[in-house]
Formats: sequence, structure tokens, C-alpha cells
Amino acid sequence: MKKNKLFIACDSTSVKKITKIIKDSKNDKLIIGYKFGLEFLNSKNGRRYVSKLKNIITFGDYKFSDIPNTCSSAIRAIKDLNFNYLTIHISSGLETLKAAKKVSGNSKLIGVTILTSIDDKSLKEIGFNRSIKNIIYRQAKLAKKANLDGIVCSAKEIKYVKKIFKKEIITPGIRYDKKTHDQKRVLSPKQAFQNGSDWLVMGRSITKGNIKKNIQTLLNHLK
Ligand code: C5P
Repeated sequence: MKKNKLFIACDSTSVKKITKIIKDSKNDKLIIGYKFGLEFLNSKNGRRYVSKLKNIITFGDYKFSDIPNTCSSAIRAIKDLNFNYLTIHISSGLETLKAAKKVSGNSKLIGVTILTSIDDKSLKEIGFNRSIKNIIYRQAKLAKKANLDGIVCSAKEIKYVKKIFKKEIITPGIRYDKKTHDQKRVLSPKQAFQNGSDWLVMGRSITKGNIKKNIQTLLNHLK
């Protein structure tokens, strides 16, 4: 049977904690990748730790958002880390996306749409008057134009993205219980896969407390 795919968000500044997350989540029922974001990659020892990882699927969640020259230079600056996946905000604009794609090499370049912590109300506060769905539909078009390798969106928007974008879809904002924390556009793991997500991203619900138990809870939920 096809195995479900999960990126575990390794959000911590502690190398010890990240080592434990990787060790305790090893599992033959799921394909697991490890996502390192702003917290770990900006920590004192985070970059060095990632540079030494071998034989695991790695995701550098830098969420680049800047002018074309700065983004492409930043991507060149992390080449040595050989991430399998890298993220860039689609809101950086088509020129930036194209420039980034030119230099991303073997790393899959994944476009981040509207963050899953944003709802329609917070979007209006920023000054956007279109709905989240409408913006994400447009962002999927940009991702396609720039030939990106994947999209990050909430599992609630997969069907709009899929109308346009046929490559990998990665969905954070996943919860199997009521603890949504700061996430607003949330769906359960089962619903996310049913909607067509290729990869789930899960952080706190896996990494807080007993990691092995949390993975088992996820597997039970997916049955
Ligand atoms: O702990 P939780 O499951 O909410 O973690 C979700 C992870 O996915 C975090 O590392 C967060 O930075 C990332 N992420 C997200 N929403 C996006 C893109 C990435 O929550 N749109």
C-alpha cells in the first residue's frame, strides 16, 4: 500500500530536542521528512547540524520573500545544505520566483501561499480585499508560470490549487484534536489526504509530549 507522507516541523533551538524528534519519529508506516524553519536555522548550532544530516528528506522552510537578486543570492548561499525542499513566498512576485527557480538546482522550490495562520479578517487588516480562495487561485497561477515544484497551502484550498497546479501540494495547519494554537485554516490529517494533499506538515501535535505516542495517534486517526 502507498505510504502517507509527513513532514515533521522541527521547531526548536535545541539540537538535543531535534535529535530526539528525528530518532523517536522513525517509522516504517509513513514516509517522513524533516522541516527546519526560521527558529532552528537561525539558532546558534542549527545550520551546522543540518549540514551534517544524511539519508533523510530535508525541507528548508526559509519562506524567502525579497527582491529577485536577494532571494537568488540567498538560495546560492545555502546550496551546501542540499535541501530536498525549499520555500519561497509566492507574494514575492513572479520575477523573484523565476530568479529563485533559476538557481534552486536539485532542491524542489515550493511556493508558499497565504499562511495558514491568516483568516479573511486578518487578510483585510493587511489591505487585501479579495478572499483567501481567490488570492490562492491567483498564486497557483503564478507558481505554475514560474515552474515551481510545489505549493504550500491549507488543506481547505487544495481543490482550487489543483485546478491550476498539478505538482506537489504540501499542507500545514493539520490537527487531529481541538488544539489549533495560532493556526486558523485547519483540517484533520484524514481530511487533508482525502482532499489530495501529497504531504502533511505537522509540528506541535507531534513534537510536544511523547513523540512516539503522537505518531501512533496520527496512524490510528488515518486508519
Ligand atoms: O505546530 P504546527 O503544526 O502548527 O506547525 C506548522 C509548521 O508549518 C510550522 O513550522 C510553520 O512555520 C509551518 N507553516 C505553516 N503555515 C504555512 C507555511 C508553513 O504553519 N502556510
